[in-house]
Amino acid sequence: MSTSQPTPADILATDLSETAHLTSAAKHPRVLSGMQPSADSLHLGNYLGALVNWVKIQEDFEAFYFIPDLHAITVPQDPKDLVQRTRVAAAQYIAAGINPERSTLFVQSHIPEHTQLTWILTCLTGMGEAARMTQFKDKSAREGTEATGVGLFTYPMLMAADILLYQPHGVPVGDDQRQHIELTRTLAQRFNYRYGETFVVPVGFFPETGARIYDLQDPVSKMSKSAPSPNGLINILDEPKVIAKRIKSAVTDTGTEIHYDREHKPGISNLLDIYASVTDQSVAELVSAYEGKMYGHLKVDLAEAVTQRLEPIRTRALELLDDPAELDRILAVGADKARSIAAPVLDEVYEKSGFLRPAR
Ligand code: TRP
Repeated sequence: MSTSQPTPADILATDLSETAHLTSAAKHPRVLSGMQPSADSLHLGNYLGALVNWVKIQEDFEAFYFIPDLHAITVPQDPKDLVQRTRVAAAQYIAAGINPERSTLFVQSHIPEHTQLTWILTCLTGMGEAARMTQFKDKSAREGTEATGVGLFTYPMLMAADILLYQPHGVPVGDDQRQHIELTRTLAQRFNYRYGETFVVPVGFFPETGARIYDLQDPVSKMSKSAPSPNGLINILDEPKVIAKRIKSAVTDTGTEIHYDREHKPGISNLLDIYASVTDQSVAELVSAYEGKMYGHLKVDLAEAVTQRLEPIRTRALELLDDPAELDRILAVGADKARSIAAPVLDEVYEKSGFLRPAR
């Protein structure tokens, strides 16, 4: 695994004329990312772990943020839920601060080039290479091979297509996506080697350590929509009283003292991490502020702090969802912008692959 990958700051300092030989490469540093719309709301882990960072990054980069609805159907989805969840995700991106006038915000299935490029990348991927993806291995081991769709197997090639179509320099994603980014880089390099320089080879922007949010009921597992119980989650769209209830019943640790110890006190440590993230205070400051106080105090204050941070986002998201036609219009503008980048890249790939281009 490469350890010395460039950071966002390194990329910003890079001279992009290096990629000037690529016909479709960007003149400004670009990033691209997406989160699957597979729950009724994004949760606090998605917000603090991804969205907050995306919002920051869009200041310095030409950013593309999208909703990977094609990825969502790698496991069965109710069509009505998927439509709604796609709009909800878009509303939450915007409510959290993604500015659709600055960044390109779009829905994956609006851009047919994603599936078109996927096929070409699939043909460039070895069976063994794909079979080594740990996300696929874990999921298929859990469900059994018969119950696992081929889509889960080819998921990383779709992800590589999502990325490579936009020639981004950086891809901000969670640690769990490291292997998929590695594969994307390999496929970009392989295509470039076989057919001539075409793709920018992107780097992953992985979160710095810390600020990882865990399940409230099981504070050694990451907060995740696939948790066995919803009680361990805080969702952006939860009402304040639900948030207060979940935090109140969060699992804490034996002992009564509030201090930070991920190994022996994962429950309290998680609450402290969340508190620090939503208020931009340090854990050390919080620990000293709560010296001699009880868990209950911390929970009451934390519920208040989380609500304060999420309430404006929830309100804004609900407003946007109240006018789905306007939301769809914003996404259509994003799709136009996205397609104007993706289509010429796919065209170049088709031509280099030896596909006879239709007469114009
Ligand atoms: N696989 C990513 C996840 O589950 C979502 C995703 C799909 C993505 N395509 C992408 C992220 C392209 C970054 C870039 O989190």
